[in-house]
Amino acid sequence: MEQLQQAEQLIDGYAKIHTIQVANAEIHQGHLVLINREHPIRQEVSTDRLLPLSSFPAIHTLSENMLLDRTCLQHLADLLEACEGINDIIAVSGYRTRMEQEQIYESSLAENGAEYTACYVALPNKSEHQTGLAVDVGKRNIDVDFIAPVFPDSGVYMTFKQLAAGYGFVQRYKEGKEAITHISCEPWHFRYVGYPHAAIMERNDWCLEEYIDQLRSFPYEDNHLVFEDERACVAIYYVPAAGEGTTTYTTAIPVVPCDRYTVSGNNSDGFIVTAYRDKGSQADV
Ligand code: DAL
Ligand code: ZN
Repeated sequence: MEQLQQAEQLIDGYAKIHTIQVANAEIHQGHLVLINREHPIRQEVSTDRLLPLSSFPAIHTLSENMLLDRTCLQHLADLLEACEGINDIIAVSGYRTRMEQEQIYESSLAENGAEYTACYVALPNKSEHQTGLAVDVGKRNIDVDFIAPVFPDSGVYMTFKQLAAGYGFVQRYKEGKEAITHISCEPWHFRYVGYPHAAIMERNDWCLEEYIDQLRSFPYEDNHLVFEDERACVAIYYVPAAGEGTTTYTTAIPVVPCDRYTVSGNNSDGFIVTAYRDKGSQADV
């Protein structure tokens, strides 16, 4: 992830468009990777991206040693504080290895049957829990259902849902999107995609499959998807991976003038650039 880490750093001079070279294999990494039954995990998340939830002792967890992607975890901690739900919400499940997903799948098959399991448990290597970017949250009760924790539509739980997009999280599996996601509605499963992506998805009622698809109509050469709020003006655009094969080539990714930017793969065919211009900055257009 050398290039992506560089890409997340601030740019000192804003003057003109520059280009970064990114290995095509990196389409499988980043906060916008789409993981589902058509787009399995292609690359294990590197362990230095993961942080234990115990680094935030105020967060309640169902089990010890839970891990999440470090950016996802920092934003989860901020969201729990903002919704004042730190004492009422429990983190039920975070990062899972492939083997853990396999065990969860097998035990659900045995306990709940095939139909239920197909609705609520992704097949091994097809679960976004394996990225560290997904977290299941539940109402902190004596009994917490590991596969389908209760997460009510009221109180601090509702506030969590309402504030989630501002912290970069979306409810990944919503009612009405089952034909696209192939997973039933899961009010407890939140996916970190980053801000403003979560806000754009929410505003347009797009699930991640739809959003990743929509982004292909905003290539670098054409109109970018522009999002503006009181803090920043954000340009988002898609750059297809170069060449036929996806592993041996590198892709030249143009970066528009900005204060900071991120690059994420989509786990399918290209990269998404998110370029932020902070309000009041001197970046040239
Ligand atoms: N519950 C979601 C679909 C998973 O197992 O990844
Ligand atoms: Zn989940």
